[in-house]
Amino acid sequence: MKVKDILEKACYENILTKDEIKLLLMAEGDDKELLFKTADSVRKEHVGDEVFLRGLIEFSSYCKNDCFYCGLRRSNSQAQRYRMQEDEIVEVAKRAYQMGYRTVVLQSGEDMYYTKDMLCSIIKKIKSSVDVAITLSIGERSYDEYKAFKDAGADRFLMRFETSNKKLYRKYHPGMSFENRIECLKWIKNLGYELGTGFLIGLPGQTIDDLAQDILLVKELDADMIGIGPFIPHPQTPLKDAEEGSVDLTLKSIAILRLLIPDANIPATTALGTLDPLGRQKGLMCGANIVMPNVNDLEYKLKYELYPGKICINEDATKCRGCIESIIVSLGRKVGQGKGQSRHYKRAA
Ligand code: 5AD
Ligand code: FES
Repeated sequence: MKVKDILEKACYENILTKDEIKLLLMAEGDDKELLFKTADSVRKEHVGDEVFLRGLIEFSSYCKNDCFYCGLRRSNSQAQRYRMQEDEIVEVAKRAYQMGYRTVVLQSGEDMYYTKDMLCSIIKKIKSSVDVAITLSIGERSYDEYKAFKDAGADRFLMRFETSNKKLYRKYHPGMSFENRIECLKWIKNLGYELGTGFLIGLPGQTIDDLAQDILLVKELDADMIGIGPFIPHPQTPLKDAEEGSVDLTLKSIAILRLLIPDANIPATTALGTLDPLGRQKGLMCGANIVMPNVNDLEYKLKYELYPGKICINEDATKCRGCIESIIVSLGRKVGQGKGQSRHYKRAA
């Protein structure tokens, strides 16, 4: 089958076989350009020219897990740890609102210091002070906790499954279970959150076959938001000498998922912008429609080191927003107004 025919099928049926996805992941030259162009026009048709900005608040750099790739892993004794207190988190959310953000993403390592009641209280306080959508990105919790956060006012939840290859998952996530993570994602979806998930590109040992399977799993989970980023080796982790993930494969995965879930929200991730100075622009031109700038103070940004070399780290939050707005305009796009709920979610509701 030719790439052109596969793209046509993807546009009409929103589903592809694993082999078809693999062919797209391996596309080069004119074929690759056609993939990107098709994804860009599907993006325009289904979610328009608006690029929505999400204010990312990384509120704790403590983590009980030990993921092999992540700088926040508990075995990284050199990591600088911090916890923001309740009022401080609420203040930063208000500041994000004043800067124009209508979604805040509360992200942290898996930090059980924050109990169900504390998180509910933070969510309620933010919701009663400013009109924003709240996205949580805090990892695995119990059904009861996810339900309580939703009842408290949380709207969306992000949690990547990282890799669908169970062997690799086990190898790189000691003490964690792939099955439990997938169960959490299903609970989150059933509780009525907008669900975000995705994976890492370029974990050592990962094959094209694995990536095709990752793409199919995002489709199967029926994600409303899709986060895909290249792996970047962190010097204080067991994967410090591994090769970084491919920008090209990341862009192709974004493009393919835009075809398979045309109305999803897909960010051009910071990791993409870190490996390629034009990475975010390229992402936005092949299917992405979201950017997630950090709105924290410099002090915290420096300490939340998932991977080294993160862009924008020295910019203050206002400047960062201005910079991203000009990137959006330079691409002939518009800064999204309002909360920018996933159109995929609306259709399902
Ligand atoms: N390189 C790229 N992305 C990483 N993440 C964690 N560590 C790294 C790394 N070294 C990603 C994971 C996680 C998200 C918050 O950050 O995919 O889900
Ligand atoms: Fe924190 Fe992986 S190191 S969830």
